[in-house]
Amino acid sequence: MSKDILIKDGHIVDPSQDIDYVGDILIADGKIKETRTQNSKPRAQNSGLETIDAGGMFVFPGLVDMHTHLREPGFEHKETIRTGTLAAVHGGFTSVCPMPNTSPVNDNPTVTAFIIKKSLDEGFCHVYPIGAITKGQRGEEIAEMGLMYEAGCVAFSDDGRPVMSSIIMRRALEYSKRFNVPVISHCEDLPLADGGVMNEGGLSAMLGLKGIPSAAEEVMVARDILLAELTGGRLHIAHVSTQGSVRLIRQAKERGIPVTAETCPHYFSITEDAVKGYNTNAKVNPPLRTQRDVEAVREGLKDGTIDVIATDHAPHHLDEKLLEFDKAPSGISGLETALGLSLNLVGSGTLSLKQLIGKMTIVPARILNVDRGTLKPGSDADLVIVDMGKEFRVDAKRFVSLGRNTPFEGMSLKGMPVVTIVKGKIHR
Ligand code: DOR
Repeated sequence: MSKDILIKDGHIVDPSQDIDYVGDILIADGKIKETRTQNSKPRAQNSGLETIDAGGMFVFPGLVDMHTHLREPGFEHKETIRTGTLAAVHGGFTSVCPMPNTSPVNDNPTVTAFIIKKSLDEGFCHVYPIGAITKGQRGEEIAEMGLMYEAGCVAFSDDGRPVMSSIIMRRALEYSKRFNVPVISHCEDLPLADGGVMNEGGLSAMLGLKGIPSAAEEVMVARDILLAELTGGRLHIAHVSTQGSVRLIRQAKERGIPVTAETCPHYFSITEDAVKGYNTNAKVNPPLRTQRDVEAVREGLKDGTIDVIATDHAPHHLDEKLLEFDKAPSGISGLETALGLSLNLVGSGTLSLKQLIGKMTIVPARILNVDRGTLKPGSDADLVIVDMGKEFRVDAKRFVSLGRNTPFEGMSLKGMPVVTIVKGKIHR
């Protein structure tokens, strides 16, 4: 049984309860026992209590990442459940949702059970697998969604690959309604993307790299919104990167269509310019776009069109990222920079701190129907203590993740998670 803990004098922000005050949190038996303001009557001290002084620091519910790649089974040279969940905790996350593009693909309950068991045995945080929509992520035949749901999957996605067949997507949205879980769409029209490797525009022409037009994403966002309207199934759009996608999702929400959306820190922090010099660490799918898109994504976060900030943590091995740009795999190792990059949105006035933390805690938890992202009494004690004044330089060599592939190397960020607590267990 974990020790009882008193977190003292932290600035607590918990959007799930509309809490924003300086106070204490008492943890007993791995659960939140009480959250109280500093002005409340002092509690009698229990001698066995471990006290953490959070004076001058912020305390948030543990972050929930609804889009993670843990790579196990099959790609343990890129990441493992152990290293990925440790990187999560290092970044302030206490729950992560691994995408199914492993080997074998998580398209059946045996793989789901393996991931859950391995996470319980070796993981450092809660792990909620996302099952594949189609067998082998081949886009041809619906996978065993019901059995995977029973085994513990909280959503379905063929992430990494789009579901090109509209009828398969329709069936997935219809079928998922039985379990009230979202279908997460990686929106990419493959014929239109046509093997491109970066955003299509002047820069791709200058670099001599094949471009992916914004429309390759937007065509699929539009299709899936229409299918959500047709079926009433819950659609969640993954990694929104373009102005046009934001506009389509905004209109869909205005019309009451059941759609939610996420973006990732790289889509509101940097542009395609990061690719200059053929930097494979800036190769990601969907690709980094233009300043106009970055601003639209920020606007979408601000007005609520984009509900969630997820990492799309996509670790790759250094040898793979050392390949020439065309051949290197897409992806950014994101768990250890997500909070610092996202806090910039507060610094720039795009979001209030409460809005930001909501998009990284209770909002994704609600979309996935998981009991996380809150400091409510009785819930598991999952939280992060953040030193907002502490500046740090991104140094991939110091990442806990095996994936050192970041385009943010050397960037100065503020907001360092100093303590993460998972189910009452302290990680420093
Ligand atoms: O850049 C990406 N990497 N985008 C995806 O959709 C998949 C991911 C991966 O698995 O590496």
